[in-house]
Order: sequence, then structure tokens, then C-alpha cells
Amino acid sequence: EAEASWDAVDAYLADALVDEDAALAAARLSSSATTMPHAAVSAAQGAFLALLARLTGARRVLEFGTLAGYSALWFARAVGPAGRVVSLELEEQNARVARENVARAQVSERVEVRVGPAVESAERLIAEDVPPFDLVFIDADKPSNPQYLDAALRLTRRGALIVIDNVVRSGAVLDSASDDPRVRGVRAVVDAVAAHPALEATALQTVGVKGWDGLLLALRR
Ligand code: DHB
Ligand code: MG
Repeated sequence: EAEASWDAVDAYLADALVDEDAALAAARLSSSATTMPHAAVSAAQGAFLALLARLTGARRVLEFGTLAGYSALWFARAVGPAGRVVSLELEEQNARVARENVARAQVSERVEVRVGPAVESAERLIAEDVPPFDLVFIDADKPSNPQYLDAALRLTRRGALIVIDNVVRSGAVLDSASDDPRVRGVRAVVDAVAAHPALEATALQTVGVKGWDGLLLALRR
């Protein structure tokens, strides 16, 4: 019952406040054509990510985990015509769906989807010596979270914001003895953020259409 009301409130708030145009709505619905139909951020969360990008004045956004490109589209809108979004995706099928969504939203010029294991794609970005990113959204396979944080730190500089999705997992994150590699990945990245002297961080639990979960935010000082 509680979850049903979380859904209803999420729908009410998203309807009232979130300006999701046709291209964004189509992208969100197209998640059903990906390998993980229920993993995309919600409309309210997409708008929140876009607000974070606007608040930080982000021009370059790096994303681990593209899926259908729904959050990438929110970031693309937020960074504006001169901005750039690089999104890393393991599955060719998902990248195909994402590129269609990006094209429909007419932001192909500012969104680049790179296919392959995200750690390898990130290593390539480091080798290419790309300009630093202003905001990094980590939302791919959870066991690799610590490696994604390491890569994010090599691809950013002072003032960058690092956002990590799914750090609560319906409370499963509490279990320090968990043998679920996803829980271990979350706990390891929480520890790594906590131990990093240049990261000022917090996390917020969220409820809504994605159940009970949370977002970690870390500012690179
Ligand atoms: C899953 C992954 C996500 O990034 C998410 O937001 C929700 C669920 C998953 O692995 O099932
Ligand atoms: Mg997620």
C-alpha cells in the first residue's frame, strides 16, 4: 500500500512540475525495448538530474550506463547547444535504442553513445585526453561502481559533481555481509567516496515509481 501511494505522489508531482516533451516521453517509454526495462530514472529524477546540471553550470556530462538514453536526453537539454554528453553503454541493442531517442530529440550533435564495457570506454577517454567533465552520473552495473568512481576522478577536476544512482536498493545496502555483488559494489563505492579527501558527499533516499532507493552526490573540492 505504501508503494502504491509513492507511485501516485510521484505521478502527481511529475505531472505538475516536470516538463517532459514528446521526445523525452518517447525515450522513457522506449526503455521497454532495452535489456533492462525498469532501470531508467523516473521523470522526476530525470528533471532533478537536469536541475543539478543547470545548478552546477555543467557543459560536459559523462554518464556510465545509457540504457535508452533517457537521462542522457535530460542532460543534453540541460547543457544546451554548446554542451556535450558522453554516455557509456555495454549493450549494442540499448545503444541503438538510445541513438534513435537522441535523434528524435534532435540533440545528436551533443550526445555521443560509446558501446562496450564502460571501464574500457572510460580508459579510452582518459587516453584521448578529453577535456574534463563537469558532471558524472554513475548508473551502470553496480559491481563496477568503485571502478567507475576511479575513472570519474581521472576525468574530472575541482568543482565537478559526481552522482551515483541506486545506493539504497530497498535497504539491502545495510547488509555488510551481503554476497550480492551489486550491494557490495554500492557499499564499496560509498566507502571510497567517504575515504576520498577531496569529495564532499551526501546521499538522499528516494521513493516513488522506482521503489525505495537513493542517490549519492559528491562534490569534488
Ligand atoms: C537496476 C539498475 C538501475 O540503474 C536502476 O536504477 C534500477 C534497477 C537493476 O539493475 O535492476
Ligand atoms: Mg539506476
